[in-house]
Amino acid sequence: MKAQRFAHCSRHSAFAKHHLPLFGQSLPALNRSSAPAVLLDNVRLVRGGRTIVDDISLRVPAGSITAVLGPSGCGKSTLLSALTGELQPARGRVEVFGQAVPQTSKALLEMRKRLGVLLQGNGLLTDLTAGENIALPLRTHTDLPPPVLDKLVDMKLHAVGLLAARDLYPRELSGGMARRVALARALALDPPLMIYDEPLTGLDPIASGVIMSLIARLNRALGLTSIVVSHHVHETLPICDHVVVLANGRVMFNGSPEALQHSDEPLVRQFLNGAPDGPIAFDSPVRKQA
Ligand SMILES: Nc1ncnc2c1ncn2[C@@H]1O[C@H](COP(=O)(O)OP(=O)(O)O)[C@@H](O)[C@H]1O
Ligand SMILES: [Mg+2]
Repeated sequence: MKAQRFAHCSRHSAFAKHHLPLFGQSLPALNRSSAPAVLLDNVRLVRGGRTIVDDISLRVPAGSITAVLGPSGCGKSTLLSALTGELQPARGRVEVFGQAVPQTSKALLEMRKRLGVLLQGNGLLTDLTAGENIALPLRTHTDLPPPVLDKLVDMKLHAVGLLAARDLYPRELSGGMARRVALARALALDPPLMIYDEPLTGLDPIASGVIMSLIARLNRALGLTSIVVSHHVHETLPICDHVVVLANGRVMFNGSPEALQHSDEPLVRQFLNGAPDGPIAFDSPVRKQA
């Protein structure tokens, strides 16, 4: 099934050929339960008095990898901030694992333990080693004895293929390695939902392929649900089950990667083709009106 998806991304068949085997020949069935991992119902998000996105309704099935694509500034990170509870919706409902995102800070902290977030930029602490960075959330949120903590850190490093980098400082890591350490840290508390905000920013094509393969492999192997926010369409599509395209403050497409490739919606085509002129107003009228 995945191979067919790659076939649609003909421009990137080299990417497919090199990276498909990395995440397994036979993929286990998705852990699809009836309740979505994330639900947005008619959501409006406002920042600084401006409506950034409006009328957003979507379901992220448990076990899936969902890509949220769209041009820079269209509100992708803003959408994520509604999932983490950083931003309360001005209208509509946001649920994570069947529960409304809480408003009180204590409940929010509890919920965030179940969210692994890899934000734009790695956010690694420069005076801590890779291992110490990964241990940080475990030290903060658990009372595990040091030997257990060490073992868990090793397991997370192993999961991202960086066991040997445990004692290296962020300045000693390549961009791709640093991103993988940040990913391991996001996984530290075994969250069932992973959110990646522009995981490829600043990475070369090989490191990008490694990160995307890792996101896919971890999702399958650990039975996670993943949301990948990106403007890197052709790198992201091959690993995802669902795609949401945001543009001009709205959901312009919501469906499978195959359907996206065949969409004749002008906004979607403009975004996929990277055309400078078209219905996507990069100086967004949504912002001017709001
Ligand atoms: N804290 C904020 N206050 C006011 N406006 C913001 C804030 N954060 C982002 N924005 C605006 O919201 C819009 C969407 O931003 P963002 O969600 O970061 O887009 P994307 O992640 O798709 O590139 C942009 O116009 C940006 O300037
Ligand atoms: Mg962003």
